[in-house]
Amino acid sequence: MMQSEGRDRLLRVIKEIAAGNYSNEIIELTGPGYDPEVRELAEAVGMMMVKIEAREFHLEQLNEQIRNDTLNTVTAVAHALGARDTYTEGHGERVSIYAERLAQRIGLDEHEVERIRIAGMLHDIGKIGFSDLIFSNEDTDISKDMLLEIRSHPQWGYDILRNLTFLGPALEYVYAHHERLDGNGYPRGLCEDQIPLGARILAVADCFDAMTTDRSYQKGKTPQEAFAILGKIAGSALDPDIVDAFFDEIEDNGMAE
Ligand SMILES: [Fe+2]
Repeated sequence: MMQSEGRDRLLRVIKEIAAGNYSNEIIELTGPGYDPEVRELAEAVGMMMVKIEAREFHLEQLNEQIRNDTLNTVTAVAHALGARDTYTEGHGERVSIYAERLAQRIGLDEHEVERIRIAGMLHDIGKIGFSDLIFSNEDTDISKDMLLEIRSHPQWGYDILRNLTFLGPALEYVYAHHERLDGNGYPRGLCEDQIPLGARILAVADCFDAMTTDRSYQKGKTPQEAFAILGKIAGSALDPDIVDAFFDEIEDNGMAE
């Protein structure tokens, strides 16, 4: 083989490696058919490739570890609320399941589905700041002060979670899960599209689970009864398209355990 041919091939392979296209062609260039200079260079580049690949593997492992730690952090934070109120913890998990299923059903990408799932688990975390009176209150009579406290929980949740940068837009979903399309929600009175889609999904899942769960002071409604109510508030409070999608989802796949 001509010397220049080996060098040209080596140069081409190195350029391909630099562009991120790893192949075993570099190994061929270390074979006996090539000029010693080309072989030596090919061996050095081959070694470099092996080291880069080892580093990439290590980085992937680190990423996986960070992801697991992150999910464990979210679970730990959600369980912290469960220590104060067992209903709220189970509610968070079910809302998370419903919201994830809804997000998948309407075709959101996997990263967004994951964000919505996490926001579902954390959506009521601000309730950790409630006074004991609210957790133990089984009356339907709620004083003005209590109402103010209850309505503060999206803001408190936002304040608790705001420095967890990995949450990204999920923080907004927690913040906006009690907003209504007609602007009469809280805490900011956002309207229609001002409310992020993730928050509109949470709102539907939240209402449904709150209605269909047994509480000490009320028996949970059937899914049919709950959907009759959701249908009435679709358009004013809830996003009607999401209510429709959720209706189909529950018909097809049933309720969360
Ligand atoms: Fe809430």
